[in-house]
Amino acid sequence: MTGKQYSYNNVDVLISAEDIRKKVLEVGAQISRDYEGKNVLIIAVLNGSFIFCADLVRSLDLECKVDFISVSSYIGTQTQGNVKVISGIKEDIIGKDVVIIEDIVDRGFTLDFLIKEISLKKPKSIKTCVFLDKKCAREKEVAVDYSCFEIGNDFVVGYGLDYNGFFRQLPYVGKIKE
Ligand code: IMP
Ligand code: MG
Repeated sequence: MTGKQYSYNNVDVLISAEDIRKKVLEVGAQISRDYEGKNVLIIAVLNGSFIFCADLVRSLDLECKVDFISVSSYIGTQTQGNVKVISGIKEDIIGKDVVIIEDIVDRGFTLDFLIKEISLKKPKSIKTCVFLDKKCAREKEVAVDYSCFEIGNDFVVGYGLDYNGFFRQLPYVGKIKE
Protein backbone atom coordinates (compact mmCIF):
# COMPACT_ATOMS: atom_id res chain seq x y z
CA MET A 1 0.00 0.00 0.00
CA THR A 2 1.70 3.20 -1.10
CA GLY A 3 0.40 6.51 0.32
CA LYS A 4 -1.54 8.50 -2.26
CA GLN A 5 -3.04 6.01 -4.65
CA TYR A 6 -4.33 3.76 -1.92
CA SER A 7 -5.60 6.53 0.32
CA TYR A 8 -7.26 8.74 -2.28
CA ASN A 9 -9.10 5.97 -4.11
CA ASN A 10 -10.75 4.48 -1.06
CA VAL A 11 -12.07 7.52 0.74
CA ASP A 12 -15.24 9.60 0.26
CA VAL A 13 -14.74 13.24 1.21
CA LEU A 14 -16.87 14.41 4.15
CA ILE A 15 -15.18 17.73 5.00
CA SER A 16 -13.08 19.46 2.34
CA ALA A 17 -9.63 20.95 2.90
CA GLU A 18 -11.03 24.42 2.19
CA ASP A 19 -13.83 24.07 4.77
CA ILE A 20 -11.25 22.84 7.29
CA ARG A 21 -8.95 25.80 6.57
CA LYS A 22 -11.75 28.35 7.14
CA LYS A 23 -13.06 26.71 10.29
CA VAL A 24 -9.64 26.32 11.90
CA LEU A 25 -8.99 30.04 11.36
CA GLU A 26 -12.35 30.85 13.00
CA VAL A 27 -11.65 28.68 16.04
CA GLY A 28 -8.12 30.09 16.28
CA ALA A 29 -9.52 33.63 16.30
CA GLN A 30 -12.03 32.67 19.00
CA ILE A 31 -9.28 31.20 21.22
CA SER A 32 -7.11 34.27 20.63
CA ARG A 33 -9.94 36.53 21.81
CA ASP A 34 -10.75 34.38 24.86
CA TYR A 35 -7.12 34.19 26.02
CA GLU A 36 -6.03 37.72 25.16
CA GLY A 37 -3.12 38.79 27.38
CA LYS A 38 -2.74 35.31 28.86
CA ASN A 39 0.12 32.88 28.63
CA VAL A 40 -1.31 29.71 27.18
CA LEU A 41 0.09 26.19 27.28
CA ILE A 42 -1.21 24.17 24.35
CA ILE A 43 -1.11 20.43 24.96
CA ALA A 44 -1.67 18.48 21.76
CA VAL A 45 -2.64 14.84 21.92
CA LEU A 46 -0.53 12.64 19.67
CA ASN A 47 -0.71 11.17 17.17
CA GLY A 48 -4.08 12.23 15.81
CA SER A 49 -3.95 15.97 16.49
CA PHE A 50 -0.56 16.72 14.92
CA ILE A 51 -1.98 18.33 11.76
CA PHE A 52 -4.84 20.15 13.49
CA CYS A 53 -2.46 21.49 16.13
CA ALA A 54 0.05 22.67 13.52
CA ASP A 55 -2.65 24.62 11.66
CA LEU A 56 -4.40 25.91 14.78
CA VAL A 57 -1.33 27.27 16.58
CA ARG A 58 -0.27 29.13 13.44
CA SER A 59 -3.61 30.92 13.47
CA LEU A 60 -3.29 32.02 17.13
CA ASP A 61 -2.52 35.62 17.92
CA LEU A 62 -1.24 34.71 21.39
CA GLU A 63 1.91 34.05 23.31
CA CYS A 64 1.86 30.31 23.84
CA LYS A 65 3.98 27.24 24.35
CA VAL A 66 3.17 23.91 22.73
CA ASP A 67 3.76 20.52 24.29
CA PHE A 68 2.57 17.02 23.48
CA ILE A 69 1.13 14.03 25.24
CA SER A 70 0.84 10.66 23.63
CA VAL A 71 -1.96 8.34 24.66
CA SER A 72 -3.27 5.12 23.31
CA SER A 73 -6.88 4.03 23.65
CA TYR A 74 -7.76 2.66 20.32
CA ILE A 75 -7.30 -0.43 18.19
CA GLY A 76 -8.86 -0.70 14.70
CA THR A 77 -12.28 0.95 14.61
CA GLN A 78 -13.31 0.14 18.20
CA THR A 79 -12.41 2.56 20.98
CA GLN A 80 -11.27 0.79 24.12
CA GLY A 81 -12.34 2.19 27.48
CA ASN A 82 -8.82 2.13 28.91
CA VAL A 83 -6.47 4.97 28.11
CA LYS A 84 -2.72 4.79 28.64
CA VAL A 85 -0.09 7.55 28.62
CA ILE A 86 2.70 6.53 26.25
CA SER A 87 4.73 9.70 26.58
CA GLY A 88 4.04 12.55 28.99
CA ILE A 89 4.15 16.35 29.09
CA LYS A 90 7.54 17.99 29.63
CA GLU A 91 6.43 21.59 30.29
CA ASP A 92 5.62 22.77 33.81
CA ILE A 93 1.82 22.90 34.13
CA ILE A 94 1.34 24.45 37.59
CA GLY A 95 -0.58 27.72 37.33
CA LYS A 96 -0.85 27.60 33.51
CA ASP A 97 -3.89 28.17 31.34
CA VAL A 98 -3.96 24.87 29.47
CA VAL A 99 -5.75 24.16 26.21
CA ILE A 100 -5.89 20.48 25.27
CA ILE A 101 -5.96 19.91 21.52
CA GLU A 102 -7.50 16.63 20.41
CA ASP A 103 -8.36 15.27 16.96
CA ILE A 104 -11.76 13.78 17.81
CA VAL A 105 -13.94 13.12 20.80
CA ASP A 106 -15.92 9.95 20.29
CA ARG A 107 -17.16 8.06 23.35
CA GLY A 108 -15.38 10.63 25.53
CA PHE A 109 -13.06 8.34 27.49
CA THR A 110 -9.79 9.73 26.14
CA LEU A 111 -10.58 13.39 26.76
CA ASP A 112 -12.06 12.64 30.18
CA PHE A 113 -8.87 10.77 31.12
CA LEU A 114 -6.68 13.62 29.83
CA ILE A 115 -8.57 16.31 31.75
CA LYS A 116 -8.22 14.29 34.96
CA GLU A 117 -4.54 13.49 34.32
CA ILE A 118 -3.63 17.12 33.56
CA SER A 119 -5.73 18.48 36.47
CA LEU A 120 -3.52 16.52 38.87
CA LYS A 121 -0.63 18.79 37.86
CA LYS A 122 -2.49 21.89 39.14
CA PRO A 123 -2.98 24.13 36.11
CA LYS A 124 -4.79 27.45 36.58
CA SER A 125 -7.42 26.41 34.03
CA ILE A 126 -8.11 23.69 31.47
CA LYS A 127 -10.12 23.97 28.29
CA THR A 128 -10.51 21.50 25.48
CA CYS A 129 -10.38 22.11 21.74
CA VAL A 130 -11.32 19.27 19.42
CA PHE A 131 -11.24 19.13 15.66
CA LEU A 132 -14.19 16.72 15.39
CA ASP A 133 -16.99 16.04 17.84
CA LYS A 134 -18.85 12.75 17.41
CA LYS A 135 -21.47 13.87 19.91
CA CYS A 136 -23.94 11.08 19.17
CA ALA A 137 -21.39 8.44 20.28
CA ARG A 138 -20.77 9.94 23.71
CA GLU A 139 -20.77 7.58 26.68
CA LYS A 140 -18.75 9.73 29.07
CA GLU A 141 -19.91 13.31 29.68
CA VAL A 142 -16.97 15.58 28.91
CA ALA A 143 -16.56 19.35 28.44
CA VAL A 144 -15.77 20.35 24.86
CA ASP A 145 -15.03 24.08 24.89
CA TYR A 146 -14.06 24.54 21.25
CA SER A 147 -14.85 22.28 18.33
CA CYS A 148 -14.52 22.68 14.58
CA PHE A 149 -17.10 20.21 13.27
CA GLU A 150 -19.76 17.92 14.70
CA ILE A 151 -20.04 14.64 12.77
CA GLY A 152 -22.28 11.58 12.85
CA ASN A 153 -21.32 8.12 14.04
CA ASP A 154 -19.04 7.34 11.08
CA PHE A 155 -15.46 6.19 11.31
CA VAL A 156 -13.45 8.94 9.63
CA VAL A 157 -9.87 9.39 8.47
CA GLY A 158 -7.62 12.17 7.22
CA TYR A 159 -6.29 15.49 8.55
CA GLY A 160 -4.37 13.51 11.18
CA LEU A 161 -6.96 10.83 11.88
CA ASP A 162 -5.97 7.30 11.00
CA TYR A 163 -7.20 3.82 10.38
CA ASN A 164 -4.56 1.48 11.81
CA GLY A 165 -1.95 4.19 11.27
CA PHE A 166 -2.83 4.98 7.65
CA PHE A 167 -4.63 7.90 5.96
CA ARG A 168 -3.35 10.59 8.32
CA GLN A 169 -1.85 12.57 5.44
CA LEU A 170 -5.13 13.24 3.63
CA PRO A 171 -5.78 17.02 3.52
CA TYR A 172 -9.52 16.43 4.02
CA VAL A 173 -11.71 14.31 6.31
CA GLY A 174 -13.30 11.30 4.69
CA LYS A 175 -14.95 7.99 5.16
CA ILE A 176 -13.34 4.76 3.98
CA LYS A 177 -15.46 3.15 1.25
CA GLU A 178 -16.99 -0.20 2.19
P1 IMP B 1 -12.97 8.17 22.78
O1 IMP B 1 -12.15 7.84 23.97
O2 IMP B 1 -14.00 7.13 22.47
O3 IMP B 1 -13.56 9.57 22.81
O4 IMP B 1 -11.99 8.06 21.56
C1 IMP B 1 -11.22 9.07 21.16
C2 IMP B 1 -10.03 8.56 20.37
O5 IMP B 1 -10.39 7.51 19.46
C3 IMP B 1 -9.54 9.68 19.52
O6 IMP B 1 -8.47 10.33 20.15
C4 IMP B 1 -9.12 9.01 18.23
O7 IMP B 1 -7.75 8.69 18.30
C5 IMP B 1 -9.91 7.75 18.17
N1 IMP B 1 -11.08 7.83 17.25
C6 IMP B 1 -12.38 7.91 17.58
N2 IMP B 1 -13.16 7.97 16.50
C7 IMP B 1 -12.32 7.95 15.44
C8 IMP B 1 -12.53 8.01 14.02
O8 IMP B 1 -13.65 8.12 13.49
N3 IMP B 1 -11.41 7.95 13.25
C9 IMP B 1 -10.16 7.85 13.76
N4 IMP B 1 -9.91 7.81 15.07
C10 IMP B 1 -10.99 7.86 15.91
MG1 MG C 1 -6.54 10.60 19.41
